[in-house]
Amino acid sequence: DLAQIGVTGLAVMGRNLARNIARHGYSVAIHNRSFGRTQSLVADHGDEGTFIPSESAADFVASIERPRKIIIMVKAGAATDAVIDELVPLLDQGDILIDAGNAHFPDTIRRENALAAQGIHFVGMGVSGGEEGALNGPSIMPGGAPESYTTLGPILEDISAKVDGVPCATYVGPDGAGHFVKMVHNGIEYADMQLIAEAYDLLRQGLGISAAEIGEIFAQWNNGDLESFLIEITADVLSHIDAETGKAFVDIVLDQAEQKGTGRWTVQNALDLGVPITGIAEATFARALSGSVPQRTAGRVLPANAGEWNVTDRDAFIEDVRQALYASKVVAYSQGFDQIAAASAEHNWNIDRGAMARIWRGGCIIRARFLNRITEAYERDADLPLLLADPYFTQIVGDGVSAWRRIVALAATNGVPTPAFSSSLAYYDGVRAAGLPANLIQAQRDFFGAHTYRRTDKEGTFHTEWSGDRSEIQE
Ligand code: 6PG
Repeated sequence: DLAQIGVTGLAVMGRNLARNIARHGYSVAIHNRSFGRTQSLVADHGDEGTFIPSESAADFVASIERPRKIIIMVKAGAATDAVIDELVPLLDQGDILIDAGNAHFPDTIRRENALAAQGIHFVGMGVSGGEEGALNGPSIMPGGAPESYTTLGPILEDISAKVDGVPCATYVGPDGAGHFVKMVHNGIEYADMQLIAEAYDLLRQGLGISAAEIGEIFAQWNNGDLESFLIEITADVLSHIDAETGKAFVDIVLDQAEQKGTGRWTVQNALDLGVPITGIAEATFARALSGSVPQRTAGRVLPANAGEWNVTDRDAFIEDVRQALYASKVVAYSQGFDQIAAASAEHNWNIDRGAMARIWRGGCIIRARFLNRITEAYERDADLPLLLADPYFTQIVGDGVSAWRRIVALAATNGVPTPAFSSSLAYYDGVRAAGLPANLIQAQRDFFGAHTYRRTDKEGTFHTEWSGDRSEIQE
């Protein structure tokens, strides 16, 4: 019998995805560059379902029913291209190749165009949820031609996470849309993590309490609006004790954050589109700062001239931090969804933002209770220009804004860096301001470069002869 679907690339993510598919009753052809991994998958998990192992790519392709559905789960970049190049000559018209890695979306657009010309469907598919998600139900963000989803969709919806019985998988949009949305998901993940880290730092410095005590606070927060995977694991991590030293585990971890690149791509793309995603950008730069060892070493001499912590009402302070965290988090999502809208317009992807929030409710790293609220906001208005301006979010952020201001002010006074809290508040004040000082910037640009300006009182484009008689001309 032929397999219903194939998976090539059996490192931990591919292996778990293949097992997940087999556990749902599909027969799965499996293949890996070195046959050992294929054999060990069958040896260790062969009893979980029907696996059809092959050593060569040709046998692998031949073992799958047509139109073939083949998931590639290898390293993004050159390794992905190598696998595609090996498989394509073996495929037939109408077959579907699915790249489930963390590809950069311009690569996906390029691959989709090249393969479409050869009659092959190429699906760039974002998969979130790590190893555990791949095995037990990830959030799945497939792009590519819509007709490929007709065949592929039912399997993806079966193996995805479910929230209230609703699958965390849906068609995202043409060519690179799926990988684009996964990229923004990761950018939001960076912001969420940085905001949590800033909250931890404020609690640590403001209250002088232990990691385990902070863990208890996060565990409590996880019972409310902030309920999410990242808050939950934060509580868990903070309570963990290092076996070797008996100290709190976080206290022995070096404070230099690394990254594999998806956050950086998100920020680079936002700069190209001109979308202010300041929360994500600050989170990405905060990782960069943490790893800037020469600068941090030299920076130790800088004077703080900071105030002293003197928190008199412990509970009120904790509640302020919680509200600042929630409000900043809403800003990060609002900005990320703006970026999705801008890219969707630029590439004609027609992405349904409410559906994206819906498939992020389960399975993925940023899964959170409040994503329901985002879906509802886009159901109220699919073209909502600003998530913060949805009545629900306007109210909850408005309720928290005084706390948010107190926290950012305290952090500045006491010399605690809160780039994500602070920049999110600055964005909030910027986007709600009736007037911004950009009028002066336009005047300066006209002064030194004759870059022209528009006026508040009449239509048209103007220039003032700054070095001459300062008369104004209309362009
Ligand atoms: C996911 C994660 C996953 C991975 C990140 C980590 O959604 O399952 O986002 O894709 O853990 O790539 O990213 P950094 O190494 O850049 O922190």
